[in-house]
Amino acid sequence: MKFPKLSSKAILAPMAGVTDVAFRALARKYGAGLTYTEFVSSAAIVRNNKTTKRMTLTDPSEKIKAVQIFGNNQDELVQAAKILAKDFDIIDLNCGCPAYKVLKIGAGSELLKKPEIIGSIVEKLVKATNKIITVKIRSGIDEKHINAIKVAKVAENAGASAVTVHGRTVKQGYSNTADWDLIKKVKESLNIPVIGNGDINSPEAFKEKLEESGVDYMMIGRAAMINPYIFKQISDYIKTGKYKSPDKLESFFEYMKLAKKYNIPYNSIKHHAIKFTKGIDSGSAIRIKMSQCKDIDSLKKILKNL
Ligand SMILES: Cc1cc2nc3c(=O)[nH]c(=O)nc-3n(C[C@H](O)[C@H](O)[C@H](O)COP(=O)(O)O)c2cc1C
Repeated sequence: MKFPKLSSKAILAPMAGVTDVAFRALARKYGAGLTYTEFVSSAAIVRNNKTTKRMTLTDPSEKIKAVQIFGNNQDELVQAAKILAKDFDIIDLNCGCPAYKVLKIGAGSELLKKPEIIGSIVEKLVKATNKIITVKIRSGIDEKHINAIKVAKVAENAGASAVTVHGRTVKQGYSNTADWDLIKKVKESLNIPVIGNGDINSPEAFKEKLEESGVDYMMIGRAAMINPYIFKQISDYIKTGKYKSPDKLESFFEYMKLAKKYNIPYNSIKHHAIKFTKGIDSGSAIRIKMSQCKDIDSLKKILKNL
């Protein structure tokens, strides 16, 4: 299956605890070309776990629906993918998560140690779902085991429609900077679309890395978490060479509206409020106040008084 042509080259990265349906709808409103759910456990999907099912809600603005799964048991991954294939167009296999609780079950970035297993999973997912299967990887395990090109080729040969590369090793976590030279090499080695990821935190960085690496799409994580308006800034910058500063409060109130529609739990809303106020004047004092809030009305009051 061919990866679709997207309306924008900027994709919202899957982020656990961040990319809930309301946040994804907001990113789409600002022009994200594609939005992935946060990673969901294949075991939990198979067990029909309610909290996990909530993570797979989508907004009508998500014209192409993309979900990310993680797991270690191949049969369970296939079963979960079959269930998700009823609602999603794209299923992404997480091979990049460095969290201990994921690694210890042999899932996420632990799979990078066994590229042939990634190949086997991808092949099975393609066969079982007839959907677009994508894979998200890191540059390698550590500086001595950089294997993104190899893993990406295995995924391509197994039938993946695109590969996302976060240019950091598992060992690096989020330290240092993403290796865009390696991302470029992955792009040059594959025939399917490559999505570059790591440290894109401004429209300028977006344009520069896109041109330098030649990747097909770019995925944005942390910068979108604190400024979802970045998707609009990127499209303005690409079209006109200029872009406006974000109105963080407007973005947040927009998020609140969507969060209400989708019954997003209060703690998630608070978490977003705290992230959104990064970079605004006296943000840290406001964040301390917000962290003590117990309900939406008191959160709104603080924000309205800004
Ligand atoms: C809070 C948070 C949660 C994340 N959750 C996921 C996840 O569920 N699945 C995944 O593949 N990557 C996850 N990531 C990694 C991002 O998708 C992305 O690869 C990483 O942040 C690098 O991109 P950036 O520099 O644009 O942030 C997460 C990152 C953050 C900061």
